Amino acid sequence: MKNARLRSAAAALGICVICAVFLSSLACSLPWREYPVSSAVSGRLVLDGGPVDRGRVRLQVRSVDNATLGAHVEHALPADGGFFFEPLKLRVAGKEYGKKYVLLLYWIDGDDAATLWRADYSRFELGGPIELSCKLDRADTQGPPCLFVGNANDQPWLLAAGRNDYRTLCRSCHGEDGRGGGPNAGSLSHPPPDLTRIAARRGGVFPYDEIATWIDGRSANEAALGVHFESRQMPVWGLRLSEQYVPGGFTEARIRNRIDILVEYLDTLQQP
Ligand code: HEC
Repeated sequence: MKNARLRSAAAALGICVICAVFLSSLACSLPWREYPVSSAVSGRLVLDGGPVDRGRVRLQVRSVDNATLGAHVEHALPADGGFFFEPLKLRVAGKEYGKKYVLLLYWIDGDDAATLWRADYSRFELGGPIELSCKLDRADTQGPPCLFVGNANDQPWLLAAGRNDYRTLCRSCHGEDGRGGGPNAGSLSHPPPDLTRIAARRGGVFPYDEIATWIDGRSANEAALGVHFESRQMPVWGLRLSEQYVPGGFTEARIRNRIDILVEYLDTLQQP
């Protein structure tokens, strides 16, 4: 009798322990609520001077650390090529706070999908709405052919990242304001060019691809790109940032993204 009571007490205790373990694991994995993880994004797609009225645009967000965490929304493009996305929401558990996300905008036309724009950001850096004017005139649609419209400060995570990288990697030669007066400029055999006049030197055109390729510096075609210098003094950033050279350095996609963001920042410095 006494044994039977003991046994049932032990069994009850066992069940309680199992319940507790089950409940606590459930609590840890429960997505508690949906949080907005992007700003509102709007824009217009233009190809060859006219609005793109075919296919669909997709806004996608994914966590950099957790491959299963992501969401996307798609719209068919109307006659004027315009699109608008409400802030995307994700079912994010508390432990995801402060994590980094990638925001991607795609144009999907039949079987083709082109990345129009992407940005890295943290949920905590959510700024005002993002307005993009997307021009599909780059031969390679990977990368950001979408241009920002309005105040650069409206995209705080993107341009702040570009400014940060510029200050860390480029300021020593090109100077705080990009005009060339950095502390290391004097030790070079020719002075670093004024980065606020990249477009002015090319008849008012800011050559996005050419500048990205030049900064990267790994391309054998570099000399053919119109940036002719006798011997390169500027570091080859594509190598400097690569995993090969930086312990825990960036992957290929990340290097490209970093350079894109730097070019985006340089574009905002242009003076007539
Ligand atoms: C060690 C000094 C140094 C550093 C650091 C440096 N640059 Fe340069 N940069 C130069 C020099 C010098 C040139 C002229 C070409 C040459 O000799 O390499 C140049 C050229 C350029 C050009 C070409 C401008 C044009 O109109 O064609 C761009 C764009 C540029 N740099 C961007 C950057 C960016 C972005 C960074 C940081 C990621 C950076 N540079 C870091 C020295 C530097």
